[in-house]
Amino acid sequence: MFSRMHLVYLPLLAVSSATSDVPGIPTMCACTQLYDTYPGKVLLTTSANYTAETESYWDVRADLHPACIFQPDTADEVADAIKLLSSNDVQFAIRGGGHMNFPGSNNIDGGVLITLSKFTEYTVNNDTIEVGPGMTWYDVYEALEPYGRAAIGGRLKTIGVPGLTLIGGVHYFINKYGYAMDNVVNYDVVLGNGTQVKANRISHPDLFWALKGGANNFGLVTKFTLKTYHIPQISTTIQLYNESYIKDFIKATCELASLDDPEPIAAGAVITVQYNATTKVVGASILGVQAGVSNPPSQFTNFSTIPGEIKINNVTTLQQWASGLDTPKQMFRVMFSHKAIFPNTDRLYEIYQTWKEAVDQISDVQGLFPTFVMNTAPAGAARVALTNGVGNVWGLKAEPAVWWQFSTGWDLASDDLRITSWSRQLTENLHRVNEELGLARDHVYMGDAGEWQNPFDSFPEASVDRMRTIRAAYDPSGTFSRLNWGGFKLGY
Ligand SMILES: Cc1cc2nc3c(=O)[nH]c(=O)nc-3n(C[C@H](O)[C@H](O)[C@H](O)COP(=O)(O)OP(=O)(O)OC[C@H]3O[C@@H](n4cnc5c(N)ncnc54)[C@H](O)[C@@H]3O)c2cc1C
Ligand SMILES: *[C@@H]1O[C@H](CO)[C@@H](O)[C@H](O)[C@H]1NC(C)=O
Ligand SMILES: *[C@@H]1O[C@H](CO)[C@@H](O)[C@H](O)[C@H]1NC(C)=O
Ligand SMILES: *[C@@H]1O[C@H](CO)[C@@H](O)[C@H](O)[C@H]1NC(C)=O
Ligand SMILES: *[C@@H]1O[C@H](CO)[C@@H](O)[C@H](O)[C@H]1NC(C)=O
Ligand SMILES: *[C@@H]1O[C@H](CO)[C@@H](O)[C@H](O)[C@H]1NC(C)=O
Ligand SMILES: *[C@@H]1O[C@H](CO)[C@@H](O)[C@H](O)[C@H]1NC(C)=O
Ligand SMILES: *[C@@H]1O[C@H](CO)[C@@H](O)[C@H](O)[C@H]1NC(C)=O
Repeated sequence: MFSRMHLVYLPLLAVSSATSDVPGIPTMCACTQLYDTYPGKVLLTTSANYTAETESYWDVRADLHPACIFQPDTADEVADAIKLLSSNDVQFAIRGGGHMNFPGSNNIDGGVLITLSKFTEYTVNNDTIEVGPGMTWYDVYEALEPYGRAAIGGRLKTIGVPGLTLIGGVHYFINKYGYAMDNVVNYDVVLGNGTQVKANRISHPDLFWALKGGANNFGLVTKFTLKTYHIPQISTTIQLYNESYIKDFIKATCELASLDDPEPIAAGAVITVQYNATTKVVGASILGVQAGVSNPPSQFTNFSTIPGEIKINNVTTLQQWASGLDTPKQMFRVMFSHKAIFPNTDRLYEIYQTWKEAVDQISDVQGLFPTFVMNTAPAGAARVALTNGVGNVWGLKAEPAVWWQFSTGWDLASDDLRITSWSRQLTENLHRVNEELGLARDHVYMGDAGEWQNPFDSFPEASVDRMRTIRAAYDPSGTFSRLNWGGFKLGY
């Protein structure tokens, strides 16, 4: 490929600032070759759109400085690029919706960034939708709206399809339909050597299984085929509470997580507590969604009986609902941290109180934005994989859990280490007590975890061994471990 290198482009590839960003010769050659082959689809550092792309992330910490950006929109183009990158040992990152707040998972300094934003083609079938990895969940709900159908994806508007689906995927309706990964019937995959395969129940069933929660360890997915369900309308509730009712709020959350009807009504929520360390004001909120038109939604009555000024119920569509729940790019610097617990009101209330006290200790941090999140993981959500004949890499038992999480935003890079250390120590100490109490659950969800956590450690050992065997068969040269190295990796 060196002979095909067009030296005329080299000045355009030079990165001015940090020396660590300076791409090596193979990277520069790869950029040049991609630019040469796909002139309209490669952004060099001097391109007008380069900066916009490198800032197309939720977490400001993810803004890095790639040598060039490739924006393919067909699987063949992806295959071509992966072949080029792997055969020349060029490091690269892949970005879908850009929401993972793990610097280096979806962007790269000095390597090649592949963005999937242009991959927005979709096909609606009777009971599935084929989705390009450039779509957000809002795009999917919008595409399905005219058919009165819904897919099991993200709860907010702008989260990307690929990242969420590859790590599991928590939707409102997991209690009935399982996680997003449990609803994928086919993955079109470009492997580490550029070969394209279809992974489904019949074709490459081992890879099909591994992609259900195995994240970006096996290949680049160029199309997801998702099951859809007839859910033309949803019943929603928005409720806010003040500090006096936090314990009741946590109790209702534990009750929601513990619901386990053999014929469940699909329902779930976004459940958060916010604390303003300056004003000392606490606010709790639930955004509840249930399939069907029962108004108010029946599954949130234990929340509705808690006093609060704001309780807004509505009957609407998933698209309409999602349209109001945007999480804009470049919101802040942000650190997640999370663990799982058996639903237990008293202990979760103690966790909340400890968190609030800990937030007070960092109240001087500029732009501090602390949120305590509780995601309900009901038994029914795990049962889907236990009974569908495919399973997933999590191997969860059919028992309820609450995934508690601290999401902490801040402004300045100079506070990065402090917040990371604060968040990690707080979370690990609380979890250790939960272990002593026999309340802790092992499972760690990549969508809620900080980059210092290792979710694979929390999966059954047999799952991890099987994933490693599958990785060895499908990516023997380690394209998705050595070259695409960012994010939650299976390790060695
Ligand atoms: C505000 C917010 C709300 C959230 N809400 C939810 C929620 O409701 N439910 C939930 O389950 N999770 C939620 N999450 C977590 C979310 O699922 C993860 O952040 C997920 O990674 C986002 O997917 P993405 O495509 O936007 O991410 P990206 O950052 O683009 O990608 C994530 C990872 O996947 C890799 N990747 C992307 N596309 C591909 C591909 N096609 N092939 C192979 N690898 C690929 C990337 O390289 C990266 O390592 C939320 C996160 C945020 C920040
Ligand atoms: C830059 O972005 C604009 C708007 O999205 C688009 O029309 C244009 O084609 C892009 N240019 C390149 C070189 O990608
Ligand atoms: C899709 O639905 C239509 C109308 O109900 C039906 O005629 C057709 O056979 C279905 N196609 C498949 C592939 O099931
Ligand atoms: C409400 O709480 C009661 C008492 O704990 C519980 O039995 C019931 O299942 C809960 N109902 C809902 C819809 O959460
Ligand atoms: C908390 O909310 C309740 C119910 O809306 C209200 O009566 C009470 O005054 C509120 N307390 C504070 C401190 O705002
Ligand atoms: C209630 O739903 C309707 C129908 O989708 C929508 O037009 C309206 O804006 C919603 N109202 C609120 C307060 O969200
Ligand atoms: C906390 O309150 C102050 C004063 O009203 C405000 O400036 C700040 O933005 C608030 N912080 C958060 C995280 O909402
Ligand atoms: C690419 O890798 C796959 C999986 O290891 C293998 O089956 C296939 O033969 C390889 N193709 C080429 C052209 O090397």
